[in-house]
Amino acid sequence: MCGIVGYIGPKQATDVVVKGLSALEYRGYDSVGVALIDQNQTGQVIKQAGRVENLKPLVKQQAGKSQLAIGHTRWATHGLPNSVNAHPHSNNAKDIFVVHNGIIENYQEIKDRLTEHGYKFYSDTDTEVIPNLIDYYTARSKTFLAGLKAALNDLRGAFAIAVITTREPTTLFAARFSSPLVIGVGNNEYVLASDPNAIMAHTKDVVFLEDNDLAVINQTSLKIIDFSRSMPKKPKLELLDYDQEQAALGHFPNFMLKEIYEAPQTIRAATRGRVLADQGIIKLGGLESVNKQLNHIDRIVIVACGTSYYAGLVGEYLIEELANIPVEVQLASEFKYRKEPFSRATILLAISQSGETADTIAALEKAKDFGCLRLGVVNAIGSTIARLTDAGVYTHAGAERAVASTKAFIAQVTVLTLIALHLSKGENKDYRKLLNELSLLPQKAAAVLEQAPEIKRITIKYMDKQDFFFIGRGYNYPCALEGALKLKEISYIHAEGYAAGEMKHGPLALIDKDFPTLALATDSNELAKTISNIEEIKTRNGPLIIMASAGNKKVASLTDDLIYLPKTMEQTQPILSAIALQLFAYYIAEAKQLDIDHPRNLAKSVTVE
Ligand code: F6R
Repeated sequence: MCGIVGYIGPKQATDVVVKGLSALEYRGYDSVGVALIDQNQTGQVIKQAGRVENLKPLVKQQAGKSQLAIGHTRWATHGLPNSVNAHPHSNNAKDIFVVHNGIIENYQEIKDRLTEHGYKFYSDTDTEVIPNLIDYYTARSKTFLAGLKAALNDLRGAFAIAVITTREPTTLFAARFSSPLVIGVGNNEYVLASDPNAIMAHTKDVVFLEDNDLAVINQTSLKIIDFSRSMPKKPKLELLDYDQEQAALGHFPNFMLKEIYEAPQTIRAATRGRVLADQGIIKLGGLESVNKQLNHIDRIVIVACGTSYYAGLVGEYLIEELANIPVEVQLASEFKYRKEPFSRATILLAISQSGETADTIAALEKAKDFGCLRLGVVNAIGSTIARLTDAGVYTHAGAERAVASTKAFIAQVTVLTLIALHLSKGENKDYRKLLNELSLLPQKAAAVLEQAPEIKRITIKYMDKQDFFFIGRGYNYPCALEGALKLKEISYIHAEGYAAGEMKHGPLALIDKDFPTLALATDSNELAKTISNIEEIKTRNGPLIIMASAGNKKVASLTDDLIYLPKTMEQTQPILSAIALQLFAYYIAEAKQLDIDHPRNLAKSVTVE
């Protein structure tokens, strides 16, 4: 949520920063700006509402020669997305420039204090207090660095900031508390960013900042100080495990479609080296260190948000059925408010694509006090959640750029299937069959993708609808929830997911000829009951789109708008259903000519609570 880029080195700094901002635009895109120190050591800020693309010509025209610059792409939290609220923000003297991700919880208190000292504020943001607070402390300190440290120790909440100042025209400062920052280490140059996407074009050598780290970066040196204790730290160099290819669009019109089409390879990557079907085993290296503890679990609590939460719900069905362990899935944003009893034999399992979701991090922080094992199913390698957990399984879906999560869900559900099988110790009757099915799944996913033209044809008929129900039973129920989320977020059509059996307990009242339902009616023990629910909708003139298993003729007679999915086992059905639902949402948004990768009001990686 919001993107930060900074550069110090021999190149034109604003070129690197603007390019980096384009790579981070998926994190927030309502306003954008850069600040630089030019060759005359004067500070300059160029910012405006809107996209990076609009900022580019302004920077080209206005920016002076510079080897030091910072930039920001914003997802508004405090104040409208306009040019005044856009970052960078500066102090009243306009010689300190700051970009910020996160929320300063005590900003009002700081603002009141600074106002008493004569400072003026022009924006509605929490961020504007930061450069002024630095100004306040540096005026009372021997060095700029000492003043900066004092200011950082006053800030409460989550932040990642980058700071430049004409008072130290050859230094880039950056600090982190509960919001990620990574520094790419090049040849006499450093690229700072809130995620590696902005760095990978320059270098794979990186240093991830930790909480309370303050980085002091010159062209030839990087120093890290723990600002809370004023102690120097040795920067820990790591190699970025990123595939640049994945960050490129190729022949696809947008990242969402590209990422949906990556489903077969996503399943392969999530199972590679882990499903040894011929030996009949699941091998999860990431859990080896905690395997003993896994023998004594009384319960698993899954915490996650949004799409990852729905993957967690699928995980609940999988783990309970295959491993016979009770599972409860909780929204991470609510977990922290509950006062539930938590035993040491309970496992907390956090699921996250980005590994940076603030609510999920807060849930993990809370669970620290319970002394229980904390596991992760995370996509972003080296992310905060990956680091916070005791052990875990990476989903290996590669970079996901579209705001709407697609391949990450596929990878999460695949990995949760592996975890369920691992926990079952091979004792479930379906164990062997499932290992086999997992190896066939990439081909079946490709077969769903081949249905894209048919899904598109059906979808377009529904593009003008205002509302939608998605229904399913059993494993298809969480898929219905996810299908509704996908549709609402990218097409702006009101959509709700329901357990099919719940329709008659209230929602059925809404059904009429203008309120369509997408029913997941694939082969399962519950199919007959789902068909009854479909009949109830049909009787009330509700339009129906049905997703069914290939060859099921009985379902075919219920609607003209039928999408066949390859036959699979019930436990692997969510993966195939999800791909079809993703295409369904995608083609409606495409028909409505919406900006699919950047849905309004949203951003990737939700780093505020
Ligand atoms: C929806 C979507 C969001 C995320 C949610 C959690 O398409 O992308 O609902 O799933 O914000 O994000 P992660 O998985 O990064 O923790």
